[in-house]
Amino acid sequence: MANLIKTMIQTRHVTRRMTTAPRKILVTSALPYANGSIHLGHLVEYIQTDIWVRFQKMQGNSCHYVCADDTHGTPIMLRAEKEGITPEQLIARVWQEHYDDFKAFHVNFDHYGSTNSAETREFANTIYNRLKAGDLIAKRSIEQYYDPVKEMFLPDRFIKGECPKCHAKDQYGDNCEVCGAAYTTSEVINPYSAVSGAKPVMKASDHYFFKLSAPSCQKFLQEWTTGQLTKEPPLQSEAANKMQEWLGTEGDNKLTDWDISRDAPYFGFEIPDAPGKYFYVWLDAPVGYMGSFKKLCNEKGINFDDYWKQGSDAELYHFIGKDILYFHALFWPAMLQHAGFRTPTKLFAHGFLTVNGEKMSKSRGTFITASSYVEHIKNTEYLRYYYAAKLNGTMEDLDLSLDDFVAKVNSDLIGKYINIASRTAGFISKKFDGRLAAKEGITDARASELMASFVNASSLIAQCYEDRDFGKAIREIMRLADLANEYVNDKAPWVLTKQEGQEAALQEACTVSLNLFRLLTLYLKPILPVLAKEVEHFLNIDALTWTKAGELLFKHRINEYKHLMTRIDPKSITALIESNQESLQAAAEPSPARHAEAQQHAIAPIAETISIDDFSKIDLRVARIVNAEHVEGAEKLLKLTLDIGEEKPRTVFAGIKSAYDPEKLKGRMTVMVANLAPRKMKFGMSEGMVLAASGETPGLFILSPDEGAQPGMRIK
Ligand code: 2FM
Ligand code: ZN
Repeated sequence: MANLIKTMIQTRHVTRRMTTAPRKILVTSALPYANGSIHLGHLVEYIQTDIWVRFQKMQGNSCHYVCADDTHGTPIMLRAEKEGITPEQLIARVWQEHYDDFKAFHVNFDHYGSTNSAETREFANTIYNRLKAGDLIAKRSIEQYYDPVKEMFLPDRFIKGECPKCHAKDQYGDNCEVCGAAYTTSEVINPYSAVSGAKPVMKASDHYFFKLSAPSCQKFLQEWTTGQLTKEPPLQSEAANKMQEWLGTEGDNKLTDWDISRDAPYFGFEIPDAPGKYFYVWLDAPVGYMGSFKKLCNEKGINFDDYWKQGSDAELYHFIGKDILYFHALFWPAMLQHAGFRTPTKLFAHGFLTVNGEKMSKSRGTFITASSYVEHIKNTEYLRYYYAAKLNGTMEDLDLSLDDFVAKVNSDLIGKYINIASRTAGFISKKFDGRLAAKEGITDARASELMASFVNASSLIAQCYEDRDFGKAIREIMRLADLANEYVNDKAPWVLTKQEGQEAALQEACTVSLNLFRLLTLYLKPILPVLAKEVEHFLNIDALTWTKAGELLFKHRINEYKHLMTRIDPKSITALIESNQESLQAAAEPSPARHAEAQQHAIAPIAETISIDDFSKIDLRVARIVNAEHVEGAEKLLKLTLDIGEEKPRTVFAGIKSAYDPEKLKGRMTVMVANLAPRKMKFGMSEGMVLAASGETPGLFILSPDEGAQPGMRIK
């Protein structure tokens, strides 16, 4: 049994609330769509939330963490169809994949459900019926694009066509990936259905709207978003400013009614009094928070109303990405308020993840799935630590620099933290039969001060966790780890052990070091729960909690030290990137649209046979695009400057303007015909030709050699 001597050390309280009864907290993360894998971008949010929830639980608060798969909508319906299975089969399979991924990253939901549940359906119906009873639902006929082949209305993202601004082909119905313009689907030139390839037609149908333009909604949202209805403002200041932009001002309200229905065929909940009409996925998605919590209440005997009735004293927090603020800060609170439920205490929005300073990219291999991380790196607590070090509770984007990831984990966790135990524990086992020194054995004033300062740091570190400023918590913890290492270095147990008569000094130095190690473990436990558990076993102690920070270990018997963590091998990162680049091949399989088109259009006939000699007359070379620019007055051309290893780069005019932004071509490798006779064009001399693929269907695709090819290499 552990012999614990309580050291009475005064600690400040984290917040005013902590002096009173435990808080009742309900926490959610955004519900991931049930048609894709969890990737490192998703994990920023789930890891952030999980750390915060674990911290709250360690504080002795009652904290429930629920989430679910977001299962409804057209993309999921079409994906299931493409796979030849029912949507129910698809969402069951993806649920299991998501569940396993979260488990591997130690994201510890109290309940992980699905929006396709009886509970979510019931709450969605209740909310709708109450809004309707409050005269907040309107029915109006609207015209929308309809696919006459597939016999379905087309959401914006399933309409493609030519960008009305830059005329790039095959752009989405609401924005252009080439020039970045945003527009409405009716502006798209030559639109086609991405589902069947058919030309869509305009068709009218009745839709149901949540009347957000009603004065009661506008007034409520003005007051709620500016914190006039709650003890503390519910939004981060950047988010609150954004809301004011979106809401407009009194007399100039910008919020319009929200279309909450979709026509069959649709995978979702049918609206109670409107056969053939379904709730739009974004109506029932946040209701999934309630549905998932209700399941937990049923399992655990928790009173649902304590958390959701209007005026509830429980706290409700939604962790979300900044891209879905609109839904969570406007639609969701308005729905809840006008249906007689409580509104969120706070929304915690975070920024986006970049990898190596850029948007995650499949071609660079940085679009990394959770499962491939597990396969190659194995230890998921490395990533938890790195993300925690980068998170600060704001909406700023955060970068996963893979070199820095390796360096930071290896230096902080192994070089600083684990090092304290690995350099001292063996002496306690070998020389003192696993027993730490008695309290009276601590004779050095520096040691006592050090231990006291470590205990006292608990309130500052707790406040950092509470504020979701995990980066600051880690900086403080690593500052303490540095002090602990200085102490170990100064005491040099490896020297003391060789000196006669220094046994007491050796036992004291190792006892102090291991007490410091215990406190560092406590402070890192919300981030590194598995490692902390192993340390608890090694130190032979009960689960570490904040309130017991001051219970130092003396005369206590520890277990034998076994290696706790290994360094990240940079080679595993290389393998990770390579494997995600490979999986791009699979991801590049035809989209539903392309697939359907391919079935409809045979390829162009193969040209007349030629001899190898005919072919070898064409001198194809690898070229680097040194510069690319628009040509004034030219509708289709871009002016390219190509380096093929000659003294002077070549100028080539290429008819690829519709498909490429010149800025994005600069630096890229491609293939050119180098022995084509120069051609005088209206805009200048063209000294060759770049190769591009095109077919019956829209689109133009220039070629790229594989990595490693150099300008000037011959292609044969
Ligand atoms: O953006 C998304 O991935 C949505 N599936 C998030 C839904 S969060 C909540 F409202 F359900
Ligand atoms: Zn464009």
